[in-house]
Amino acid sequence: MAVSAGLTCGTLAVVRYTVQNRVRESVWQELHNSVRTYRVFQKREEESLARSAALLAGLPTVRALMSTQDSATIQDASGEILKESGADLIVLADRRGAVCAVQSTKAQIVPTTAQYLLNHTFEKGGTRDWWLAEGRLYQIVTRPVEFGQRGQNTVMGILVAGHEIDQKAAQQFSSVIGNEVVFRSGGYVISSKFNAEAQAELLTRLGSHDDPFEIQLGNEQFLAATEKLYSSSGFDVSLTVLKSFDQATAFLASLNRVLIALGLVAVLSGSLFGFLISDSISKPLARLVQGVQALEKGDFEYPVPSAGKDEVGLVASAFEGMRQSLRQGQEEQKLLEQRLRQAHKMEAVGRLAGGVAHDFNNLLTIIRGHADLLMERTENEPAKKSVDQIQKAAGRAVGMTRQLLAFSRMQVLQPRVVDLNSIISEMGKMLPRLIGEHIEYSFVSAPDLCSVQADPGQIEQVLMNLAVNARDAMPDGGKLLVRTAKVEVGPAEAAKRPAMSVGSYALISVTDTGHGMDEETKAHIFEPFFTTKEVGKGTGLGLATVYGIVKQSRGFIWVESQPSRGTTFEIFFPSSTATTAAPAPDVPVARARRGTETILLVEDEAGVRDLAHEFLKAAGYKVLEAHDGADALEVAARYSGSIDLLLTDMVMPRLSGKELTRALREARPELKVVLMSGYSEYSTDGSDTKQFSSLAKPFSMVSLIEKIDEVLHGTRVPEDVMKG
Ligand SMILES: Nc1ncnc2c1ncn2[C@@H]1O[C@H](COP(=O)(O)OP(=O)(O)OP(=O)(O)O)[C@@H](O)[C@H]1O
Ligand SMILES: [Mg+2]
Repeated sequence: MAVSAGLTCGTLAVVRYTVQNRVRESVWQELHNSVRTYRVFQKREEESLARSAALLAGLPTVRALMSTQDSATIQDASGEILKESGADLIVLADRRGAVCAVQSTKAQIVPTTAQYLLNHTFEKGGTRDWWLAEGRLYQIVTRPVEFGQRGQNTVMGILVAGHEIDQKAAQQFSSVIGNEVVFRSGGYVISSKFNAEAQAELLTRLGSHDDPFEIQLGNEQFLAATEKLYSSSGFDVSLTVLKSFDQATAFLASLNRVLIALGLVAVLSGSLFGFLISDSISKPLARLVQGVQALEKGDFEYPVPSAGKDEVGLVASAFEGMRQSLRQGQEEQKLLEQRLRQAHKMEAVGRLAGGVAHDFNNLLTIIRGHADLLMERTENEPAKKSVDQIQKAAGRAVGMTRQLLAFSRMQVLQPRVVDLNSIISEMGKMLPRLIGEHIEYSFVSAPDLCSVQADPGQIEQVLMNLAVNARDAMPDGGKLLVRTAKVEVGPAEAAKRPAMSVGSYALISVTDTGHGMDEETKAHIFEPFFTTKEVGKGTGLGLATVYGIVKQSRGFIWVESQPSRGTTFEIFFPSSTATTAAPAPDVPVARARRGTETILLVEDEAGVRDLAHEFLKAAGYKVLEAHDGADALEVAARYSGSIDLLLTDMVMPRLSGKELTRALREARPELKVVLMSGYSEYSTDGSDTKQFSSLAKPFSMVSLIEKIDEVLHGTRVPEDVMKG
């Protein structure tokens, strides 16, 4: 806008300057022409003056008058001659040149002045001259008054006729040429229109300028050109022609207006053009720049509207696409991070819970074991009742510990290739009773379901926990639907469910029509001890157990729920290519017989060690005791007799149960081994654990003795893990 305004003003100034110069030049040209015109005009005036002087001099009355040679008579009669002549000045002199009469229309010119001027004219020779008398300028011609025939006759006197160059003359000429005219002679100005002040100003300038010049008179600017008409030693006469420059350039003002209007139109259309450009290019570009800057600062929400199909529009829409995909990427990243954090948290809580459960297991082993011992040893009924209560409470505590262990994936599992459909069908008999008649139970099984590797007992546990939760969410009744499906997870699906990899899965989904959950609840449900149920109603271990079991079976669990819209749990187990194994046949457990063998008992927890010692002694076994692996090696080394079985804790400081076994078997290759453990070790894959029989803690007297008997006498397959 400023640029176009500036350009327009500049153009106007240049145009104005050029036009003024042109006008000035043409005015000067005109002034020169006017001055030249005056020369012609003056010539004609002189001619007519000369003619009338010749006429006068030839008049008989004038001749007769001159012949009188009497000054007074001539002076008296000369008034009539002036009237007849039409001239402004008449001077009559005798033949010697002495002035006899002077007559003029305006000023009173004394004879001495006329004599002086005439003498001067005679000195110069010639018949034409300029006179300045009493402030008046005259153009004069002289003519002899002769007696007899012209050229032969004697001269009787001299006649001078003058024509005054006065204001009127100036005005006449001025009107002929259309410009102002100023005559100057000596210190006098004879002008057509200018006042005294302007005349004074003119006089000072005229003295110093011959060339064209500019002058300010009043409030008008004039251009002037001067021509010298006459010059002699006494005085000079000059003509100055002036033209008002303001009038000559008056048309410039209207031209200016037109130009300014044009300029305005140019500026406005320039601005409009600029606006259009800014609207179609600059603004979208500015928005694009803002969008890029916002993106730079990490603001993925700043939208860049893509308008138009031009280059800017295309760039804007490409940028918008990029922003959206970046935002999506960021959201996915956030979701992943959140899931990862959740997984880490569950991991940490799991380790904590597992650690607590491990120590707790030892304590429970002692409590339960001694309760068992007490029960056997006492006949006192009230005491038996108390012991019974202790056993029941300990049993509940064992259940909880097991759930915690399940959550922390430290449970001793018995994984087999199983058919989920048949497990769920089996449970179908028991589940309706568990959830009550007010809830409608249905199971939809997929016929082509692939088999999975899992512990059937744990799958039952999972279903039970989910069913109980569903029941609690539908106190006024509803529907519980259990469904299985074969699911092929492709890359797209796997991306939606991070941590899941591409492959085929068996899906169990459990859907209820209960009160559902809000986001806050959903975020915590798998944490142990998280419950929304009132105190005493829920432990908050149900879903933690489910989670642990699913994870330990390398499965995945997802929950979909909204307040008052029901809940769906989805559990994916990776498919197993192996064929379904038939459950191990229940080999009847041989009744425990009285033992006679020697057993090396290794346990770092003194309470558990003492208890196991008591149990073994009571069953008739000879017991060697060691408080850890290293101690056990020493004990074995010192003992010269045969050791039939090593009963050792799996996790011990310095030397683990397995390492101890290996060391002892070097000297005693026939040594039989039972490993005691509160949990399947987190870090091992359990492969070599299978070489040994294991005994889950907490154990009871019966389970311990049965296990020992079984290993010593082979009443059961050694791979089997015994339930405590
Ligand atoms: N099907 C469901 N519908 C609505 N809320 C549920 C459902 N399943 C679980 N929840 C919510 O998750 C919480 C945790 O469940 P979880 O099974 O771990 O513990 P609990 O049922 O409260 O106690 P516990 O199972 O140990 O007796 C519940 O308290 C409940 O708020
Ligand atoms: Mg529950």
